[in-house]
Amino acid sequence: MPEKLILTCDSSKNSIFTDNLLSWGRSNGRKNLPWTPKKGDKYDPYKVWISEIMLQQTQLVTGINFFKKFMLTFPTVEVLALSKLEKVLISWAGLGYYARAKNLHNAAQMICLKQKNVFPNSAEEWMKLPGVGFSTAASISAFVTNEKVAVMDANVIRVIARQFKLKDFVGSTRLKNKILPLATKFLPHSSTNMPIYTQSIMDLGAIICRPHNPKCYLCPVSSSCSSFATDQMLNYPVRRKSSIKEKKVMKWLIPYTKDSTALVLSKNSKLWPGLWTPIQILTESQIPKEAYFFKKLKTPISNFILEVSIWCVFCTDKKLYNSVKWFKREELATSPVPSTVKKALYLI
Ligand code: ADE
Repeated sequence: MPEKLILTCDSSKNSIFTDNLLSWGRSNGRKNLPWTPKKGDKYDPYKVWISEIMLQQTQLVTGINFFKKFMLTFPTVEVLALSKLEKVLISWAGLGYYARAKNLHNAAQMICLKQKNVFPNSAEEWMKLPGVGFSTAASISAFVTNEKVAVMDANVIRVIARQFKLKDFVGSTRLKNKILPLATKFLPHSSTNMPIYTQSIMDLGAIICRPHNPKCYLCPVSSSCSSFATDQMLNYPVRRKSSIKEKKVMKWLIPYTKDSTALVLSKNSKLWPGLWTPIQILTESQIPKEAYFFKKLKTPISNFILEVSIWCVFCTDKKLYNSVKWFKREELATSPVPSTVKKALYLI
C-alpha cells in the first residue's frame, strides 16, 4: 500500500523555524539550477520530474550535467515516450541505478497514452507513476503545484532529527512517522512559498546541516535546534552500526574477435535491466577450455560489493554463441553497457 499524503499544514502563521528558513533560502538557497524557472515563471513539471528522479541517488553536480544532456536529447515528455528504451539507457550510462531510467521511460508513456500528455497535479497522483516514491512526489508537487506536502529526503530527515534530537534509527519507519508530522507543521502558511521552502530545506541539509561537518555558526535555525543547544549535532540522526556490505560474486565470460566483443541482454535482472553485459557463468565447467582468466574485479555497486572473475576467449566461430550481440569495439563506449562493464573492459 502506498503511504498516503494525508497530513496538511493548518497553522495560520509561519513558525519561527519556517520564517528563518525562508529568509535564509531567499538569499542563500540554490537559484540557478537548470530546472528552476526565470523569476515570475512557473516550474515546468517535466523538468522538475526528471531532475528529482536524477537526484534520487546522485550528487547535485553530477545530476546537473546529466540533466542538461538529457534535456537536449529528450526535450519533452512526448519525445521521451516515443524514444527507444535503449536510447534512454544510453543517456543514463554513468548515472547508475538504471531502473530509474526504465521507470522514467515507462512513466512517460503512461503520461502520453493514458493521461493525454497531462502531468499529475498532486503528490498522490505523481506517486502512481513508476519510480516516484513518497518524497519525490512531495517535492515535485511542492515545486509544480505549490502543494503543501513535506519532502522527506535524507537532508530533511537530518535537519528535523537534529532539531528535535529524535532517537530512532535512520531508515526506520518509527523515525519517518515522527518526522512527517513535524516536517508538515513547519510548512509555510502560504502555498506560494512552497517551492522556495522546499528548495531551502533541502539546501539547508546539503550546505549547512551536513552529515559530518555541520556549519551551525551559519545556520538560520540553530536557535531552535535541540542538538545544537547541547552540542550533540553529530549524534543525530542516529545510525545503526554500519553493517558489512553484502558481497555478490559473479563469473563473466567474454568472447571476442579481433574487432568485436560479445555481450548478452540483461533483460530481467534488477541490477542492469535492459543493458548489455557479459555472459554470466554459473559453474566453472561452463568455461570453454580455450578461455583464459583475464582478471578479478572488485567494485562497490549500489548497496553491495560486486566481485567478478572475468574469463576471455578468442572466438573463431561466432555460431558457437547464440543470443549474444557482437559489438564493434569502438561502439561499446556509447552503447547501453553498464559503466562497471566498461571499466572492466578498460573503456573508461
Ligand atoms: N535533491 C533532490 N532534489 C533537489 C533539489 N531540487 N535541489 C537540490 N538537491 C536536491
